[in-house]
Amino acid sequence: MTDSTVIHIEDKRDVTFRVHRFNPQVDSKPYYDDYTIKLEKGITVLRALNYIKEHVDPTLTIRAFCQAGICGSCAMRINNMSKLACTTQVWDELEKTREPGVIKVDPLRNLPLIKDLVVEMDPLVDKMKHYTNWVDSKMPEEQWGNKEFLVSEEEFQRYDKATDCILCASCVSECTILRAHKEYVSPAVLLKSYRMNVDTRDGSHELRLAELVKDHGVWDCTHCYRCQETCVKHIPIMDAIHGIREDAIERRGVKDTSGARHAEAFMDDIGKKGKLVEATLPIRTNGVGWTLKNLLPMAVKMVIKRRTPPPPLLVKASKGIEKFREEFREMIGHVAKDHEKKSGE
Ligand code: SF4
Ligand code: SF4
Ligand code: FES
Repeated sequence: MTDSTVIHIEDKRDVTFRVHRFNPQVDSKPYYDDYTIKLEKGITVLRALNYIKEHVDPTLTIRAFCQAGICGSCAMRINNMSKLACTTQVWDELEKTREPGVIKVDPLRNLPLIKDLVVEMDPLVDKMKHYTNWVDSKMPEEQWGNKEFLVSEEEFQRYDKATDCILCASCVSECTILRAHKEYVSPAVLLKSYRMNVDTRDGSHELRLAELVKDHGVWDCTHCYRCQETCVKHIPIMDAIHGIREDAIERRGVKDTSGARHAEAFMDDIGKKGKLVEATLPIRTNGVGWTLKNLLPMAVKMVIKRRTPPPPLLVKASKGIEKFREEFREMIGHVAKDHEKKSGE
C-alpha cells in the first residue's frame, strides 16, 4: 500500500451521527436516530447535518444561518458539550467519541425544546429585557443624532471582550445552576449586564445592579467556571461575574444581600483558616432567625446521619497557613489597588 493510498483511506470514512429527535406533534418522548454517511476530512458537523437533511432525512430539524461562527444560531450539544456546529470539525469530534465512529448530537440544555435540535430562545431574551441589557443612553434625547457620544480606547477595553458574545447560549446550556433553577439570571445575561454597566454612556447602572443582586441573580452563581470553559468565543465570563459582585459590594455594601454577606464570610474564613467554618456559615450569611426557620430540619437530619460539619472551635487552620495568609494578603492588596485604579479612572 502506498503512502497516498493510506492518506486517501484515512481522509474519507463512515461516520454515524446519533441525533436527538423529538417532534412534539407526533412523538410522546424523545429518541435517537442513527445516520451513517461517508465523509471527507475537513467537513464540519453542520455541513454533515445539512447533508443528512438534504439527502437522507428531510424531517430532521436544525437551525443555522451564517455558517461562519457569527450568528450563534447553530449551537447544539456535540458529544455532550455545547458548541457551534458550523465551527466544529467532524474529524476532531471523532477523536473524542465514546463509541468509535459515532458522534452524538443533542439540542442545547436549559432552554425549552421546540423540535429535534432546535430550542426556544425566548426565555433568554426575556431575561435580557428583565435585566435592561442594552445601553440606556445618558445623552439627552434632543442631542441624539446631532452629537457623537465618544468612548475612549481605555473605556472600550473594559468591555471589548464581552462584545464578542454572539448569544449562542452554549454557556447557558452548560450552566450548572440553571439545571436546578430555570429562573437563574444565566451566564450570558450576566456577561451582557456587566458589559452595559461598565459602559460610560449608559445611565441604568444602578437599576440593573439592584435587579442583579436580588434572588436568582449574580450571587446564585456557584463559580463552577463551566460557562467560561464552554464559551465558543473564549470570553472570560467569570471576570464579568466577579466584576458585578465587586461592584455590588462597593456600591451597595456587604450587608445588602445574603449573597454579599456569604462572600464576605467566605473570605473571612479563608483568610483566617484557609478553609471554611461551615457550621456558622448560614448564620453569618442569613442571621440566626432565618437559619433556625429554614435549616433546622436539615440540621436535625444531618445530626441523625452523623454528617454535621465540625464545630467552629474544632476547625484547625490548614497546613502551611502562614504562607497562605501572606499570599492571601498580597492578593487582597492587588485587588484593592485595582479598585483604586478603577475608581480613579
Ligand atoms: S460559573 Fe456560575 S454562571 Fe457559570 S456555569 Fe457555573 S454557576 Fe453558571
Ligand atoms: S458568552 Fe460565549 S457561549 Fe455564552 S452566549 Fe456568548 S458567545 Fe455564546
Ligand atoms: S450558523 Fe451562524 S454561528 Fe453557526
